[in-house]
Amino acid sequence: MADLSFLALLLLLPPALLFVVLYVIVRPRPVKIPIKNRHVFITGGSSGIGLALAHQAAIEGARVSILARSIDKLEEAKNYIQLSTGIDVSIFAADVRDYGAVSKAVEEAGPVDVLIVNQGVFVPEELEKQGLDEVKFMVDVNLIGSFNMIKAALPEMKKGEDRGPRSIALMSSQAGQVGIYGYTAYSASKFGLRGLAEALQQEVISHDIHVSLVFPPDTDTPGFAEETKRRPPLTGIIAESSGAMKAEDVAKRALDGIKSASFIVPCNFEGLLLSIATAGLSPQRSFVMAFFEVVAAGLVRLIALCFQWNWYTSIQKWQAQNKRT
Ligand SMILES: NC(=O)c1ccc[n+]([C@@H]2O[C@H](COP(=O)([O-])OP(=O)(O)OC[C@H]3O[C@@H](n4cnc5c(N)ncnc54)[C@H](OP(=O)(O)O)[C@@H]3O)[C@@H](O)[C@H]2O)c1
Repeated sequence: MADLSFLALLLLLPPALLFVVLYVIVRPRPVKIPIKNRHVFITGGSSGIGLALAHQAAIEGARVSILARSIDKLEEAKNYIQLSTGIDVSIFAADVRDYGAVSKAVEEAGPVDVLIVNQGVFVPEELEKQGLDEVKFMVDVNLIGSFNMIKAALPEMKKGEDRGPRSIALMSSQAGQVGIYGYTAYSASKFGLRGLAEALQQEVISHDIHVSLVFPPDTDTPGFAEETKRRPPLTGIIAESSGAMKAEDVAKRALDGIKSASFIVPCNFEGLLLSIATAGLSPQRSFVMAFFEVVAAGLVRLIALCFQWNWYTSIQKWQAQNKRT
């Protein structure tokens, strides 16, 4: 009996010690970002995930501003939120590629507490076939547009220390965690957001500003419907496995992640595994998640290698078949 207790102690001691160590070292420390009565500014808020986020934030009592290019789509989004919740949102027509226009919009909207940089364009095609104009378009809207938004909002956000913790959230994609056939330009623009977010978090932490990076899977939105029409067949074969989530579900996961100031915000179980597999040197506030990242690293790497095996086998098979026909 004494031997068994000793054995149990020996088995439990390493994970318990690991828990304690992780509890002490995880940085930045956990923090909550309130949404109620705060100014939430969402780019790309007139459609898809951004519209669902605006709707959800309005229901949770935030003062919501949305920005996009088309004034008609913005008006439609405003009316939809007004009709379904009775809440008025502010709209700003601007292109995120135009720094002057977004600065003016942010100035008019007033100091931002939660900035959700969600706008994005995705045109899948093999790099060899894709025009450089389309490559530049995706990098400009997805990456440079995000820099423009953050640069425009940050000075006033930094001054808001008396308003409590603030947040900057960036909408990446699972294609920003792993490169997928046909997404060379899109993946590059979304991987870029990760570098931006990791470095920015270190620069703004002393101002009580917390960065979140959201990684949605395929999501049923107007943008996604357009994207699937242009997907190369192999992109469809590789990316199809996960199925599409509803925009409302992605928005809920994203907002929950932002409220708990998680640096990495996955949107489903597959996304959680992907986050563990790609945790690398990213910040982690939760010692429980850090525990899983440390313990599951080897197994998750094995699963990742199985995915790569499956993808490369599909590519090989497809290319062999298409050479014959
Ligand atoms: N849907 C998916 O499967 C999926 C998966 C992973 C990640 N994501 C990411 O999630 C975000 C939202 O995607 P979604 O599917 O909801 O897209 P969506 O339905 O196409 O909506 C895109 C929004 O961005 C705005 N926008 C586009 N270009 C803009 C620009 N230059 N300046 C300002 N606003 C601009 C659009 O309005 P205007 O056209 O009027 O400007 C619209 O409000 C994107 O960053 C996307 O990369 C989507």
